[in-house]
Amino acid sequence: MSRCRIISLPDLSKARNRQDGASIKYDEAVYSDALRRFAQGKKYLVKTFGCQGNVRDEEIISGYLEKAGFSKTSDEKTADLVIVNTCAVRENAEDKVYGEIGKFKANATADKDFILGVCGCMMQEEAKAEKLIKTYPFIKLIFGTHNIADLPSLLDQVITTRQGVVDVISYPGDVIENLPSIRLDPYKAFVNISYGCDKFCTYCIVPYTRGRERSRPLQSIIEECRNLVAEGYQEITLLGQNVNSYGKDFHDGTSFATVLEEVAKLGIPRLRFTTSHPWDFSLEMLDVIAKYPNIMKCIHLPVQSGSTEVLRKMGRRYTREQYLDLVKAIRERMPDCAITTDIIVGFPNETEEQFEETLTLCEEVKYDAAFTFIYSPRVGTPAAKMADNVSDETKHERFNRLVKVVEAGVVYHSAEMVGKTYDVLVDGPSKKNAAILSGYTESNKLVNFPGPSYLKGHIVKVRIIENHAYSMLGELNENPVDVILGKAKEKLTQEPAYINYLAAKEAFASDAELQRLLAEKEAAQKALALSLGSNDYEAKKATFAKISASIEENPHYINFISASDDLRDLFEEMKAILQ
Ligand code: SAH
Ligand code: SF4
Ligand code: F3S
Repeated sequence: MSRCRIISLPDLSKARNRQDGASIKYDEAVYSDALRRFAQGKKYLVKTFGCQGNVRDEEIISGYLEKAGFSKTSDEKTADLVIVNTCAVRENAEDKVYGEIGKFKANATADKDFILGVCGCMMQEEAKAEKLIKTYPFIKLIFGTHNIADLPSLLDQVITTRQGVVDVISYPGDVIENLPSIRLDPYKAFVNISYGCDKFCTYCIVPYTRGRERSRPLQSIIEECRNLVAEGYQEITLLGQNVNSYGKDFHDGTSFATVLEEVAKLGIPRLRFTTSHPWDFSLEMLDVIAKYPNIMKCIHLPVQSGSTEVLRKMGRRYTREQYLDLVKAIRERMPDCAITTDIIVGFPNETEEQFEETLTLCEEVKYDAAFTFIYSPRVGTPAAKMADNVSDETKHERFNRLVKVVEAGVVYHSAEMVGKTYDVLVDGPSKKNAAILSGYTESNKLVNFPGPSYLKGHIVKVRIIENHAYSMLGELNENPVDVILGKAKEKLTQEPAYINYLAAKEAFASDAELQRLLAEKEAAQKALALSLGSNDYEAKKATFAKISASIEENPHYINFISASDDLRDLFEEMKAILQ
């Protein structure tokens, strides 16, 4: 940064601090006139690295920017404001960020008003934030994971002072509610249930970059999920570094099982959660997962290593045997439950025998999917200070052996799927071929199949015909038109106009007096027709008119006619939607 004002810099020792009881605050961002004027007609872009937590942060950053008046673009060349949202979990995640920042030098040179901001976990590390300040004069704003809610005021300072601004807070963290947000997907949503992490696994930087573990109030989570259901979302993923320790900071018995059950009851078609730490995974949670069909039977259960000794050095607080017992408990209750994991290879001083224990564990569990990583030392963590006698070459060789064993498990599960039919939530046309749709099964397996694009966002039945290991090829096992009509019917039965119509029809049919009058009217109408040209005609006409008037005064008749009109309007609206 060339000229810059430093409000605060990250401090890893402060970030270690833990106190109980986070404050619940509400978003109070102020959008200055200067910011609103600046944002008029300008376009923003957020580039996100890292986990789903960062993806959710992107949605909140976008919320602030759109409230200020910026509009979204995906074109890097014409963006007026770019925010790079970084991840610090491994060195390769950080390396990507430098390249990304470098790309925007051209924008900064061409336009003096161009703003490049950098935020996210990497900014919470002292050395990384300082390196960016020194190396990249065209960065105009640096902020951290704890002060996203200050974005409007930080941008105002950049615009009005024409100086770069650095503000990274290192503190245990609060919970901020009512955050603005622009969701990236119209059918699948992430909902934070807790922030931060208190586990301090010895290799991991997350507890330092994200602060102490703090749960969101249950009511706020439920409100957010209820709104998503009303907006037609098909899938919610509850997010936290450790979802199963949700509520521990409340000290009132509220647990993750409580959140899971309350959200499942809202009727979202698919409910997922991530990540579950094996250490505080309760059997009560398993009972809730088993009880609700809309909770996906798919558990991400990072093991990290198959060796009890390595797990102890990692500070994971479970043994190989305890982990395997948990897997057994899951499979006893839910034999078809998918289990996925994260594994680190080459932790300091990992022996060949210890590594082989990871291989045998993978052979035993047969994971549906596994994310495998080579250990990457993170400055400030205890493991980074451990002397390490394992060469890079050995680590890479072990990594390749692990990938093969993991793949055998993946293929084992994929092969079982061929010939069977699964529910697939359609993401839309696949990236490679517009005539092919892609989506995910309950177990999070990617399925590609030919189908019409209007199925996007629907859950459809797909029969698996080919096993491609990491993805499957399938064919639709139901008529796509029926899918849409079925959905329309489901929507119709929930509409107030339809519910009123049914009630009015019921009252109409069960009003004996009204039914008697209707029968009389029919008889009177026939008599009137027969009397045409005779002397009785006028008398019959009067009788008919009198009965008709009595019917038209009947409240059940009036209601039924008006409910029928409302239903016709609703059909017109639905027709327009279907067209
Ligand atoms: N809270 C989650 C995961 C957070 S980070 C959990 O505990 O499961 C995602 C994954 O990155 C971890 O599960 C771990 O496998 C990996 N990881 C974290 N720190 C790492 C490091 N220093 N080197 C290599 N992989 C790491
Ligand atoms: Fe990192 Fe461990 Fe916390 Fe997961 S549980 S975020 S691996 S410290
Ligand atoms: Fe990366 Fe931060 Fe997530 S370090 S994995 S973005 S919590």
